[in-house]
Formats: sequence, structure tokens, C-alpha cells
Amino acid sequence: MEAPDRNLALDLVRVTEAAALASARWLGKGDKNAGDGAAVDAMRLCFDSINIQGVIVIGEGEKDEAPMLFNGESVGSGTGPAMDVAVDPVEGTRLLAYGRPNAISVVGCAPKGSMFDPGPSFYMQKLVVPSQAKDAVDLDAPVQDNLLGIAKALDKDVDDLVVFVLDKPRHSKLIADIRATGARIQLHTDGDVAGSLMALDPKDMVDVMMGTGGTPEGVLSACAIRAVGGQMLARLDPQSEEERNNLLDAGFDLKRVLTAEELVSSGDTFFAATGISGGKWLEGVSFSGHGAVTHSLVLRGKTGTVRRIESHHTWDKLMAFSSVKYD
Ligand code: FBP
Repeated sequence: MEAPDRNLALDLVRVTEAAALASARWLGKGDKNAGDGAAVDAMRLCFDSINIQGVIVIGEGEKDEAPMLFNGESVGSGTGPAMDVAVDPVEGTRLLAYGRPNAISVVGCAPKGSMFDPGPSFYMQKLVVPSQAKDAVDLDAPVQDNLLGIAKALDKDVDDLVVFVLDKPRHSKLIADIRATGARIQLHTDGDVAGSLMALDPKDMVDVMMGTGGTPEGVLSACAIRAVGGQMLARLDPQSEEERNNLLDAGFDLKRVLTAEELVSSGDTFFAATGISGGKWLEGVSFSGHGAVTHSLVLRGKTGTVRRIESHHTWDKLMAFSSVKYD
């Protein structure tokens, strides 16, 4: 038996809260870079207080394009466990810029060396299901077979199912195939980390997330899946000749199906997400004039604990010392 040890996710939620509070001021203002920049600055500052020796594996991009939180950057106080870190200060920058639901701030951590490094990969095909349907899916099977299998595993009819799909031209055949089965669809312009988390959440109406989205977002979602169970099947899915050639040159196998366990090889993951723009699944930041309320999801792989945290932030105390101006 072990005594309870530190749950790093409870520290990480302060990082996603800070990013959400800073970026939520940009809701609907049409400037996705400003919202993202505010989140990056707040997240960076808050990371300094977290006792880890972290290296960003999934970040804002390469150093020259992203001045902070770039891939390979060290984060944390420099003491404590050596961790791979995945960040998306604003997942769904357009959702935030246009005031649409489900923009969230997300961080995942796993022991050093356990996160899949996407290299030059931008896009990945993904299929995410909750744990009851873990063994019912096959990325190479027709859509109809997967949905029939998922429905059976969830003790539903196919036309009861709700599938989360990004509303992109590349998904026109996928959407037609899903419709042909009778399953229902939620089409979202952005935000497939939220879509994956909805599929894993038994209380949400989404049962499955399907389609091609960002590879970094796939690794972040896998961090959450390692904590709550469920499965993600994924395959690199380059969307341009240049991306394909870069992947082949770097030695990636474009046929290989990756599971959540291959995307994050350790089960000792920590994950935190805070709502920015709001939505039924995770409420956004509400400002009161004197403070703000945030809503977060906090997951730990080792124990499987799922926490939903509502935090009340008060400006007259916080602004007396905070370097980030939230009020
Ligand atoms: P950003 O926050 O980086 O804008 O990503 C939003 C997102 O919708 C992701 O959730 C998704 O994985 C990816 O973009 C899809 O990329 P694209 O919009 O290029 O199809």
C-alpha cells in the first residue's frame, strides 16, 4: 500500500485557469492571435510555480514562430519530476475569436519520454470512444461497422448515437457515411479535444468523436484517455504533399494505427482543462466586475480520479500581487 502522493494535475489546473482568465477577455473580438497570446503569457508565468522539470513536447510550434511555449522549451521550476508537457493555451482559437462554444485551455503531463513526438505532423485521423466501446472499433473498418459495434457496446440503437465531427470539407464522405447509418451528428467548426472529452464523458450526449484534426490535439486527448479510460485509434493523415514528404523523410509510418497507449506510453498522466468560451460540457469564464468564476476538469491517470472544479477568483485580493492583469 502507498500513502497518497502528489497529484500534479491539481497544480496544473492553476495554469489552465490563468490562461482561461486572461484569454476570455478576447471572447468574440475577432482577434485569435491576441486571445492566444494572452493565454500563452499567463500560462508561461504560472508554469514557473509548478515543481517539475518539464519539457514541452506538444507546444505552440517551433521556436521562431512561437516565442513562448515552443516545442523543446523547458517549463516548471526546474525541481521535481522530469515530465513531458503538452499545452494548448487556447484550444479553439477561432471559437474564442468568434464567441462560439467550447474554446478551452488545456495542459497534459506524463513522465519524461512517454509522449509521442509528432515531428512534422500536423494532422491525424482519430476515432475516440468511451471505455465500454473500447474493443468495438477498428480504424480500417467501414464507418457503418464501427457505429454498429459502438451502439451495441453502449446498449443503444445506431440512430441513438451522436457523433462529434469537425465541419470541414475533408469530412464530406465521412459525414455522408455517418448519415447513411442513421446516427446523429454534431458538427463543430473547431475543437476536437473538447469533442474527444465529450465522447468520454458519460453525462454528455456525444458518444463518439470521428475525423481528422490536429496531431498535437490527438496527443493531448490521449493524455486524458489514459486517465479516464476509453480509446483513441489514430493515424497520421497529412493534408498536403509537403506534410506527407516531411513525414516520410523523417521516417514516420503513415499506415500505422496508434492507440492512446502508444500516443502516451505511461498511465501516470495528469490533465487539466478550463473552459474559456463556455458550452454545456464545460462552462466558460464569467466575469462579475469584482472577480470571475472558472470551471475546470482535472484528471489523474494513476488513480483515475475525475474532478470538476469551480473556482471563484476575487480581484481585490488577486490583483494586489498578480503580474497578470485579469480585472
Ligand atoms: P486551434 O486552436 O489551434 O485553432 O485549433 C483548433 C482546431 O479546430 C483543433 O481542435 C483541430 O484539431 C484543428 O484545429 C483542426 O485543424 P483545421 O482547422 O486546420 O482543420
